[in-house]
Amino acid sequence: MRIAIASDHAAVALKAALADWLRSEGHDVEDLGTNGEAGVDYPDFGYKLAAHLAAGKAERGIALCGTGIGISIAVNRHPEIRCALVSEPLSATLAREHNDANVLAMGARIIGIEMAKACVTAFLTTPFGGERHARRVAKLGKARP
Ligand code: RB5
Repeated sequence: MRIAIASDHAAVALKAALADWLRSEGHDVEDLGTNGEAGVDYPDFGYKLAAHLAAGKAERGIALCGTGIGISIAVNRHPEIRCALVSEPLSATLAREHNDANVLAMGARIIGIEMAKACVTAFLTTPFGGERHARRVAKLGKARP
């Protein structure tokens, strides 16, 4: 799968670990930064990730910051993004099944790498449930019924 990943400075290590692991699993991963320890602003990377997905350059996104909160707010400002902030895999599963989430957000200061991998696995392998959920998800989009 084509996956784009972005973080602020607080989640650079988690981003690198997830990107390496996803590539080793055969995914096509685009790292949108940041890539250093220098402090950056999470909205810049959230907006970059959202634009990347909306342009069709990736099918799914992973958004990381210290808590996951700031960057999830940023990506969710784009009408084509449905970002779920999670810290355990059941929420990631249900975000796919019920909300057709296309971005997963996590906090590097909240969860460790193994929990993050479990969340990402659920996010990448769970299909959207459709049916009643499709009507609700449609109301989240640009053209509100
Ligand atoms: C950066 O220190 C921190 O504020 C940021 O990573 C994030 O937790 C914001 O929501």
